[in-house]
Amino acid sequence: MSDKATLEFEGKKYEFPVIKGTEDELAIDIKALRGTSGIVTIDPGYKNTGSCESAITFLDGEKGILRYRGYSIEELAEKADFLEVAYLLIFGELPNKEQLAAFHMDIKNESHVDEEMKKILDGFPKSAHPMGVLSSLTSALVAFNPRSVDVSSDEAMYHSIVRILAKFPVLVAWAMRKKMGLPLDYGDDSLGYVENIHKMMFKKPNQEYKRNKIIIDALDKLLILHADHEQNCSTSTVRIVGSSHAGLFASLSAGISALWGPLHGGANQAVLEMLEAIEADGGDTKKYMAKAKDKEDPFRLMGFGHRVYKNFDPRARIIKTAADEVLNDLGISDPILEIAKGLEKEALEDDYFVKRKLYPNVDFYSGIIYRALGIPTDMFTVMFALGRLPGWIAQWREMRLRKEPIGRPRQIYVGANLRPFVEVDKR
Ligand code: ACO
Repeated sequence: MSDKATLEFEGKKYEFPVIKGTEDELAIDIKALRGTSGIVTIDPGYKNTGSCESAITFLDGEKGILRYRGYSIEELAEKADFLEVAYLLIFGELPNKEQLAAFHMDIKNESHVDEEMKKILDGFPKSAHPMGVLSSLTSALVAFNPRSVDVSSDEAMYHSIVRILAKFPVLVAWAMRKKMGLPLDYGDDSLGYVENIHKMMFKKPNQEYKRNKIIIDALDKLLILHADHEQNCSTSTVRIVGSSHAGLFASLSAGISALWGPLHGGANQAVLEMLEAIEADGGDTKKYMAKAKDKEDPFRLMGFGHRVYKNFDPRARIIKTAADEVLNDLGISDPILEIAKGLEKEALEDDYFVKRKLYPNVDFYSGIIYRALGIPTDMFTVMFALGRLPGWIAQWREMRLRKEPIGRPRQIYVGANLRPFVEVDKR
């Protein structure tokens, strides 16, 4: 393999190094392109652009492979718990028992949120989307933890990380409890990380919290499956905001906003709303398949297609099985699951979807489990954010430790040329 690529432009040749990743991925390193030739590349949506070198997550969209730090997602979903996976993603290795216990203890020690934060939450109408609330509260946390912005020492960086891992679940629970009219409680440090999250979300003021292993295990698995996905829209947002040294919490707040969109994390809510609409409309999946294929119709089959996966999203496979198990274990029969399976079957056999390599993505089945666990539909994307938190932190940390430069793309200007200003009464 050649380790150089040549670009020929207007009779001149420019050579660029080719770099190879540990899984043999190739990239032309064009760092010197503009300096030597005066030209830039253009790639809207960054379909062909690597923004960084990263040692966190490997995915092969053609083969349907996803690994965190070299471990397969299938094995992690089966054998690890979410806190172990968070540690793995952020620090690079699976923790031993002592490291995991110390990490958890450090998180517990930071699990309070300033009472004043409740006043900010109070200012939102009950109808506010919890993703907007979560993004605002995460940003507001900076004001109560101003030292979290300075991460110049390893210790300071570690503290910012454990602080947000501790406080973020409280914000998630509060965002949901406010909507449900429940008091804003704190967690219970005697519980595991995920169980505590569940309790914070669902504990009723006048009832004892009952532990349900099926629910906790399902939640754990869902959070692991969402924990990282290399340079997607929200993660790239976190890295680019973080590259200005804006601080971890502000970077995460921006990532939450990016995740909110229906083409990204918001798809899990959109999938369930779509399945409910199909059910309410008589369950005619063929009608909706036809709408999805009609170029005049803006309708898309939500939960289908992926920028990177041109094969089955491995997370979707795991979630589909988990959805079956959870519904079975909880004794729930959900007609929505049947509609989802019907749509999947039809799409996998349909020429339009086959040709475009449109397969179910992680969001296609996750909403069905969230619904079975009693999580309100507009909290689905919040659950995604909760799962993605360690991935965002890991990517932000990597970017800071590698001392990456501020993210600042170029453009090709296609607007008006210089023209004289015209006074308002002459326009
Ligand atoms: N339903 C119908 N047609 C689709 C769908 C879909 N869900 N997804 C893509 N297509 C079609 C497009 O119309 C296009 O057709 P064309 O070539 O005839 O013009 C072709 O497939 C390629 O689609 P693009 O939008 O160019 O693909 P891109 O990689 O830019 O987008 C995306 C990927 C945004 C995920 C897209 O597939 C989509 O909108 N899916 C539905 C939303 C969704 O589920 N998002 C969650 C993604 S996973 C995540 O963020 C966790």
